[in-house]
Amino acid sequence: MIEDLGQRLNRPRFPRSAGYDPHWMIENWMGPNALWLLEWLCAELDLRPGARVLDLGCGRAATSIFLAREFGVRVVAADHWVKAAENWERIEAAGQAGQIMPVQAEAHDLPFAEGYFDAVVSVDAYHYFGTDDLYLPYLSRFLAPGGQIGIAVPGLTAELDDVPAHLAPHWEPDFWAFHSPAWWQRLWTRSGAVTDVRADLLEDGWRDWLVWSEATLELTVNDFARQVLPREIAMVRADQGRHLGFTRVTARRS
Ligand SMILES: C[S@@+](CC[C@H](N)C(=O)[O-])C[C@H]1O[C@@H](n2cnc3c(N)ncnc32)[C@H](O)[C@@H]1O
Repeated sequence: MIEDLGQRLNRPRFPRSAGYDPHWMIENWMGPNALWLLEWLCAELDLRPGARVLDLGCGRAATSIFLAREFGVRVVAADHWVKAAENWERIEAAGQAGQIMPVQAEAHDLPFAEGYFDAVVSVDAYHYFGTDDLYLPYLSRFLAPGGQIGIAVPGLTAELDDVPAHLAPHWEPDFWAFHSPAWWQRLWTRSGAVTDVRADLLEDGWRDWLVWSEATLELTVNDFARQVLPREIAMVRADQGRHLGFTRVTARRS
């Protein structure tokens, strides 16, 4: 029921996200609830008012709006697929024109000054471009020394050699970009580009993934969402958290 949506999506562990209209979130759907993941990620970051933050792979900029509102930071909202002009409309409508600058940019060709950002944040996007050994050394150049980087991405409890039978009917080759906290910890630590690397899995994250995806499927008018969500829901439901969840990784520029 639409009236119950706020209650259905109420997550006491994400109190800041509860202040955002769930219909607005569904309108701007691009994957598992971006604000919940961001709120979880920010618990491990120290974001001070006025800090310069790059929201990399920001999609429709809901996460950038959250960062500006909740922490008073200045955000560059960068995305490859979504045009800056589209995000600008949303940013202005949210009253954040003074705090957020939208940019259309590809993650390997960033048009920023080295050392410019105090933090780089990325929600449900980094696995599309950041799983190779060379990427973090490239990206970390845009951070000031000691600057923070944090990502939250779909992930695995542990690395898989093969697709488990219960996931096989739903598996897509792209899902090989999902990794465990231990995998990310190793990738980032041995890069030498960052220090103080921490990686963990969101406890019972699969339940949030399921509840959010089911609510979105019921209410969305987005054709792409209607196409992909039934399979995603079936997969997460079949798995029950045995393998799938969300990985958070944070570090500081060395
Ligand atoms: C699943 S969406 C998530 C968007 C948003 N962070 C959210 O959670 O709602 C993934 C985003 O990653 C962005 N992305 C994928 N590959 C990228 C690349 N190479 N450079 C920059 N952004 C990229 C896409 O443009 C897309 O908006």
